[in-house]
Amino acid sequence: MNINGRHYRTIWPVGDDAVEVIDQTKLPHRFRTVTLRSADDCARAISEMIVRGAPLIGATAAYGIALAMHDDASDEALDRAHDLLLATRPTAVNLHWALKRMCDALRNQPRSERVAIAWREAAAICDEDVETCRSIGEHGLKILREAGATKNGAPLNILTHCNAGWLATVDWGTALAPIYMAHDAGIATHVWVDETRPRNQGAALTAFELGAHGVPHTIIADNAGGHYMQAGEVDLCIVGTDRVTANGDVANKIGTYLKALAAKDNGVPFYVALPSSTMDWSLHSGREIPIEERSADELLIMTGRLPDGGLATVEIANPGSGAANPAFDVTPARLVTGFITDRGVCEAGPEGLRALLPK
Ligand code: MRU
Repeated sequence: MNINGRHYRTIWPVGDDAVEVIDQTKLPHRFRTVTLRSADDCARAISEMIVRGAPLIGATAAYGIALAMHDDASDEALDRAHDLLLATRPTAVNLHWALKRMCDALRNQPRSERVAIAWREAAAICDEDVETCRSIGEHGLKILREAGATKNGAPLNILTHCNAGWLATVDWGTALAPIYMAHDAGIATHVWVDETRPRNQGAALTAFELGAHGVPHTIIADNAGGHYMQAGEVDLCIVGTDRVTANGDVANKIGTYLKALAAKDNGVPFYVALPSSTMDWSLHSGREIPIEERSADELLIMTGRLPDGGLATVEIANPGSGAANPAFDVTPARLVTGFITDRGVCEAGPEGLRALLPK
């Protein structure tokens, strides 16, 4: 992704003892990077959502293990870093996937070689993520090309929820990759960007990305999607996911389920972009997915930009009222039209998934 003419990934190594990430808590108001020097730094960056999005959480955890090995390459240090990083966020299975891959690569290797192995493996996870997302983009592009061909030159209206773009991955994104490719291929596209309360990943991050790439888009309140679907102004939906279970159920940002219900009621195709690393064959159905509960402050307090450019944090709710804040929900497979994976597109169900993403 290019920002002001410079190509960025969301995470990159600095020398052999640090990694740098884009601070997503500051976007869209400030473009800042943060240097992470230890497994603790990586764990904090994930918990505080300096980095977020399932694939990027996995990539950051992988570098967290590499940084832990740099400090102490013992088995005990490996276990400690693994447990620390695993405890950061419960829903995205990419975290488990990346940590397991790092531990499998390191265990039984001589201590003297562990730093180099860990550094290489983390870099490979990042490079593969870029290729996976590029591939999702190419498969999704075929769907958008077909849909666009029915529009007689009018823009294809795509609704997305939360941020499953390049900021959520190492580059390209999952749900947004086909949109970037369609835009680059000259297919007229317009994106309805769900605001995505409470943390506003849509209004803050997806809109920032689409703006930087020049893709026409409109931010809408989370509750407006159903209305636009009824009015025939949404041609299809594409969202990302944090975990897909063996039966095809999808965990994604809170509110995804309501969008899928509205899409079903209005005959709007509802696609989920799914990298292989987000598939969880160990769980049978979405009911088993742990749903993260985050701080009530995310609902009760908001930070925004003042006219003078400064940032201010304000309370927006009745003082003293509590709030509940589940960060994800589960969309049943029956509401999903298809999965756009790095290995092709399939129906949302066990057979389709098994054919494309074998265990
Ligand atoms: O809480 P977040 O911002 O990490 O949630 C992100 C999402 O829900 C994304 O849709 C999902 O991780 C897929 S990212 C390619």
